[in-house]
Amino acid sequence: DKGNHRHFMAKEIYEQPETISHTLSHYLDMASGTVSLREDLPFDFDDLSRMTISACGTAYYAGCVGKYWFERHARLPVDIDVASEFRYREPPLEKNGLSLFISQSGETADTLAALRYCAGQGQHIASLINTLESTIARESQVVFPILCGPEIGVASTKAFTAQLVSLASIAIAAGRARGALTPQVERGLVEALIGLPSAVSQALAAEEQIVEIARHLSRAKDVLYLGRGPMFPIAMEGALKLKEISYIHAEGYAAGELKHGPIALIDEDMPVIVVAPSDELAEKTLSNMQEVAARGGRIILITDEEGARTVGHGVAETILMPKVDSFVSPIVATVPVQLLAYHTAVAMGTDVDQPRNLAKSVTVE
Ligand code: F6R
Repeated sequence: DKGNHRHFMAKEIYEQPETISHTLSHYLDMASGTVSLREDLPFDFDDLSRMTISACGTAYYAGCVGKYWFERHARLPVDIDVASEFRYREPPLEKNGLSLFISQSGETADTLAALRYCAGQGQHIASLINTLESTIARESQVVFPILCGPEIGVASTKAFTAQLVSLASIAIAAGRARGALTPQVERGLVEALIGLPSAVSQALAAEEQIVEIARHLSRAKDVLYLGRGPMFPIAMEGALKLKEISYIHAEGYAAGELKHGPIALIDEDMPVIVVAPSDELAEKTLSNMQEVAARGGRIILITDEEGARTVGHGVAETILMPKVDSFVSPIVATVPVQLLAYHTAVAMGTDVDQPRNLAKSVTVE
């Protein structure tokens, strides 16, 4: 049932304030304002040597954001790779390592093969799953549920934000166990999580403006998405969403890599979407953006009011998201990139929920 929405994808984008609340109510103890994992862990975060994340597509991009969180807030070194590369690399794995597999369906063939490889290497096996009756869940020692409800649209939206909320919560638990967080910092991170449902609702309010921008975007042949730090995976996720449902070629790039090649592509016909909420990295990203503006590129900037104030000339459009703690800004910044892809596809008249050549669950290798 699509409710009042034209597509499942729109329904699932709009459901996110509720699905995020639901995920949070599993991971947080609201009374004490702390993260409290209900899962029985077959390992101690404190003893782990390393974490290895494998996943595909959107789930992989969630893992890329997770890597920043685990490294920064839990001081746990993280390796991440797409499952189809990881499994054939057959990487040497350290003793007492944790392998984490992220999958909405729990059935993705390459992710499952990566899991079996890691299990064979004696790693601790954990997975982050939406469909709990699934092969990957069954073969894991511990399953972290993302609890966003069934996702029907082939392009993943609410599962991605639920994966992020779960990863953020687990990273806080790991940070506490490893003595990497002061109680005060921990409280700040949890408060930022608690504020998410309302921040995501506010981000959804940019829809009308995004409909207009998407009309322009639907005439583009190529679109570049730029981000730095945890916004880099959000840039890649935005590009993937656009490719999947509008069939427009798009690429997500690390903002700092622009001048090492792709800047040669920039002309008036190339929209460049810059994801840069105001944080300690924004200044650098915004200066990369000025390099694009100086070459005539059409810039669509996703930022908050503070970020918008610091930008000079050269931005065609600014999409405002609410100002949130930088810990959770990748989750809030996801909403505008989802809406941009959705409305571009609607403007083009493509089959949003069933894009060509794609299946919801990829069980071939
Ligand atoms: C993108 C998308 C795919 C999946 C990927 C992994 O919108 O849906 O990239 O994220 O096929 O699927 P799961 O998470 O089921 O392993």
